[in-house]
Amino acid sequence: MSLSIVILAAGQGTRMRSSLPKVLQPLAEKPLLGHVLDTADEIGADDVCVVYGHGGDEVRARFADRDIRWALQAEQLGTGHAVVQAMPGVADGNRVLILFGDVPLLKAATIEHLTNATPDGDMAVLTVDLDDPTGYGRIVREDGYVVRNVEHKDATEEERRIREINSGVMLCPGDRLRQWLQNLSSHNAQGEQYLTDAIAMAVADGVTVHGIKADSADEVMGINDKLQLAEAERALQCRRVEALMRAGVTVADPARVDIRGALSCGADVFIDIDTVFEGDVVLGDGVRIEAHNLIRDSELGAGTVVHGHCHIEGAHTGRNCELGPFARLRPGAKLADRVKAGNYVEIKKSEVGEGSKVNHLTYIGDAEIGAGVNVGAGTITCNYDGANKHKTVIGDGAFIGSGVELVAPLEVGENATIGAGSTLTRSAPEGQLTLERARQVSVEGWKRPVKKK
Ligand code: UD1
Ligand code: CA
Repeated sequence: MSLSIVILAAGQGTRMRSSLPKVLQPLAEKPLLGHVLDTADEIGADDVCVVYGHGGDEVRARFADRDIRWALQAEQLGTGHAVVQAMPGVADGNRVLILFGDVPLLKAATIEHLTNATPDGDMAVLTVDLDDPTGYGRIVREDGYVVRNVEHKDATEEERRIREINSGVMLCPGDRLRQWLQNLSSHNAQGEQYLTDAIAMAVADGVTVHGIKADSADEVMGINDKLQLAEAERALQCRRVEALMRAGVTVADPARVDIRGALSCGADVFIDIDTVFEGDVVLGDGVRIEAHNLIRDSELGAGTVVHGHCHIEGAHTGRNCELGPFARLRPGAKLADRVKAGNYVEIKKSEVGEGSKVNHLTYIGDAEIGAGVNVGAGTITCNYDGANKHKTVIGDGAFIGSGVELVAPLEVGENATIGAGSTLTRSAPEGQLTLERARQVSVEGWKRPVKKK
């Protein structure tokens, strides 16, 4: 039977105290709603509808590239009323799965279990047992099946003692749901049209309602404020780092690594504390990440070592490179095998050839550096004239002395040596020593200035 997914995301989220709509709040870099949409994609439905309201334009714009049906709920009159807005686009005969834009950690596998366990024509609710069920809808069962849900605010003392709560996630036969929604009332403690009232209506119509329990409370956790957002972030990070460790990565402290995008690791990778991975990062076999690094959208070749305090973005290294401590690789930094980029070295949009060393206090931008080059401390490629960027090309085996400025565009020939302190404005020929310095003088009889009285 075909499936339609309806994602409720119209709530305001006032408790976030943010100008950003709640479902756009980032969890591991991705908006809350993005996580739910990804789960929906994984489950696979022939129709995904988002019910939106508050911050609607911003929410829609953020997901403009996705195939989503949008249903406006101008006034938030309750979860039942929200689903009503989505129903006109749901094809006859479809099953309808209700998800929530602020419940981001639900696994596709859990939903698949729920849909597989529910025969066509039956209904199912995803539940979980909580030590403290305060605030949630309580699940009332008879003979093992769910017979109704009662909201905390409407519950009796006795009902409030029930620890099995309604996660909100629900699977319904669509055609029946359409009828039930028409009969919702708002005669309850909150004056809202409760979607959950459909449970008792289903039972009255002779429809079996299955209560499927989720493995963990994390999965069905709803995010309402920044505290819960942080809690969800931790839970998600734990999940990701656990998967890494199961895949053989050694992590010094699982609580002190953050994987905000997609991290893929080869064999025998080691990750020390306090590294943040963002975007798509690929670490080859045996890569070693020491403490305190940020690595974004980069690929590090096998055996590469990243010492502490590096900032690496949009970079690519070959095998057995050594970076940092305190190195910065910016987008377009492409290092061949066995390259060293040491402390206070910045490399941007440049290629560095095999075995070359840029060890200290250097800026390399818009450059093409050959193999076996030694770039001395304090070297600067002056790539920018205030208006345009220019290229520096350094041939294989060149030796650039310390404190050299290379005013681009220029070329340093193969095996050339550039004397320390030179400021080159023209190309240097291969194989020769090129110097550009004033002659050193010592001034006889010179006196240091003294402080005026
Ligand atoms: C709902 C359930 C409750 C369950 C809990 C789980 C109902 C009546 N109650 O309660 O049984 O235990 O979720 O978290 O369904 N929304 C809209 N439009 C509306 C109202 C809500 O889009 O008019 C969206 C909200 O943005 C939110 C979600 O639906 O993401 C849940 O709404 P909320 O009002 O928070 O429901 P709860 O009171 O938490
Ligand atoms: Ca809620």
